[in-house]
Amino acid sequence: MQKVIKMKFKDKVVLISGATGGIGRALAERLAHEECNLALFARREEALKEISKIIDTTKSTCIYGRCDVKNKQDVKEAVEITRKKFGRIDVAILTAGILVPNPIETFDSSIIKNTMEINFLGNVYFIEYLLPIMKAQKSGTIAVTSTLPDKRGVPGWGAYGASKAAVSWLMESLRAEAKQKYNVNFITIKPGSVETPMIEGYHRQGAIKPEKAAEIIVKGIQRGKKIIQFPLGQVLLIRTSDMFPATAYDMMPVDAQKGDGYPVIEEK
Ligand SMILES: NC(=O)c1ccc[n+]([C@@H]2O[C@H](COP(=O)([O-])OP(=O)(O)OC[C@H]3O[C@@H](n4cnc5c(N)ncnc54)[C@H](OP(=O)(O)O)[C@@H]3O)[C@@H](O)[C@H]2O)c1
Repeated sequence: MQKVIKMKFKDKVVLISGATGGIGRALAERLAHEECNLALFARREEALKEISKIIDTTKSTCIYGRCDVKNKQDVKEAVEITRKKFGRIDVAILTAGILVPNPIETFDSSIIKNTMEINFLGNVYFIEYLLPIMKAQKSGTIAVTSTLPDKRGVPGWGAYGASKAAVSWLMESLRAEAKQKYNVNFITIKPGSVETPMIEGYHRQGAIKPEKAAEIIVKGIQRGKKIIQFPLGQVLLIRTSDMFPATAYDMMPVDAQKGDGYPVIEEK
């Protein structure tokens, strides 16, 4: 059997978007133990400052900056600041995202537009500015966060699901060519439920801690996985339901799929 050569994070430059969030912060704190150079971005500067103070107590170095991924110029500057400071960018782990319900009773395109701008286009901007750097380096890894249910629609969560399906498709379309032509790795991260502020109020059975998610993601990147999906039980469930014929899939109870905490809308 071929031995998998694990990538080492030591001395690498790692950019993280959504670094103030449950998964992004856990990743930053986990990677701080790998003696690397971290560049952390999100909108809440106070939270970034707090995380950077924790990282300063480790052997890793850290810079941080405000970046609203809806704003292309912010993303451009985040990438530029990182490259200027460290001279290169080895790994980008993009986790910035929002989860907003879009009930059918009040179907509203503005929710879908906003979600696409943050969850999809925000990552597209990063890829646009990261790729030339990694192409020139002839190495690099761009890991973008989608979601486990990225193939079938989930009632009530169409805005989110559409944005994540778009991420998954884009990553699939880039992965082989980026690797073959430029030695750049594209990794799609597909988490199931993780106990973070994002799903607070929406009870999810079997949700794992963000620290556990971070560990799985770090190991997956080190092993050069192309898709990092977890936790196993949910992976089996979701990938099995992907194979249901539409008629069977549509028989699944709608409210149960929306989940606990989904807003109840009274139709006028
Ligand atoms: N938790 C789960 O169960 C789960 C499951 C599947 C996929 N995911 C995905 O995993 C990723 C991380 O989610 P999480 O659970 O860690 O969520 P979270 O705790 O809510 O964190 C979301 C992060 O995104 C940042 N963000 C939101 N809007 C932004 C914007 N316009 N510009 C820049 N940053 C923005 C937030 O930072 P600021 O507010 O400081 O900007 C925060 O750092 C997301 O892409 C999410 O869709 C999560």
